[in-house]
Amino acid sequence: MRVLGIESSCDECAAALVEDGRRVLSSVVATQIAHHAQWDGVVPEIASRLHVEWISAVVRQALDEAGLSLSQIDGVAVTNRPGLAGSLLVGLSFAKALAWSIEKPLVGVNHILAHLYAPLLSEDIQWPFMGLVVSGGHTLICRADGFDDITVLGTTIDDAAGEAFDKVAKFYGLGYPGGLAVDKLARNGDARACKFPVPNLYKGEHRYDVSYSGLKTAAIHQLDKLWDDAYPRSKENIAAAFEKAAVDMLVSRLQKALADTGLRTVVAGGGVAANTYLRERLAKLPGIRAVYPPLAYCGDNGAMIAGLGGMMLARGDKDGLELNVSPRVAGFKKNGRP
Ligand code: KG4
Ligand code: ZN
Repeated sequence: MRVLGIESSCDECAAALVEDGRRVLSSVVATQIAHHAQWDGVVPEIASRLHVEWISAVVRQALDEAGLSLSQIDGVAVTNRPGLAGSLLVGLSFAKALAWSIEKPLVGVNHILAHLYAPLLSEDIQWPFMGLVVSGGHTLICRADGFDDITVLGTTIDDAAGEAFDKVAKFYGLGYPGGLAVDKLARNGDARACKFPVPNLYKGEHRYDVSYSGLKTAAIHQLDKLWDDAYPRSKENIAAAFEKAAVDMLVSRLQKALADTGLRTVVAGGGVAANTYLRERLAKLPGIRAVYPPLAYCGDNGAMIAGLGGMMLARGDKDGLELNVSPRVAGFKKNGRP
């Protein structure tokens, strides 16, 4: 089964063709980074307008690169939640019109589950595993028992991990997009220059939760108090100290979840999963196998949508033309499911 996947939830306009949920035939990602850089953040109105302008060409290119015509597609998968409403609507409307015109099934895909599915495009991974989704909008530690069967153990109680990277990078003018800029600078910095406070969230229902707003505030407003003057206050040192605090918090919660569940495999996805220090930390966890998607499928892409959508379509899932977007998904923690 060959599925076209369309992704437009944020600032990447992407389309891909994937066969049988696993084999990527083509993957095209048109990034809007240059269009948002001057504002140091994604401007929703600009994002949706660019998706309107680009989506047709992006889908066309994905088909061309796969050497397929529309008549050779068996279904259309599209991100319909969560994300920026205007941007999601562009992809969903396009996907609906296309599926209707070629008389093939349409399926709406949860972007967060798709990030968790991305490593399965290149690796043989068995469920259950521990999922870690860390991106600009989401921070999630979960037990995954199937491609759409996850139980959320921990989330952020405020900012997402990537959001904290982006905001600190914006404040110190480190570069855009922030996470990648911090990662690059941190490689030449010394994390000992500043010891950030660790949030006290260890108890009760927050056992696996993280909180980034305190760290972000400390990094922006309390450097004078926290900085060790034996180290120069360079961009590199700020980046290294912040990155260490942000990643260590995540890894400490993940370690607890691994110990409590006995799971030995961590599958990481989302933009922050590209972080060098995070990968170093996970590689050193004793007895744990950490799996990542290739860098091309770490950030937003159409292949993860086509892959997961292919599994759903093969199972018989199908959405009607009344399918709508959801900027948010229901509180994960309430029922444990997206
Ligand atoms: O998955 P993604 O492309 O989009 C969302 O679904 O949000 O993730 C984007 C996020 C941004 O916050 C970006 O700063 C962060 O991932 N990011 C990184 C790195 N590369 C991207 N954060 C830390 N280290 C990186 N190398
Ligand atoms: Zn994403």
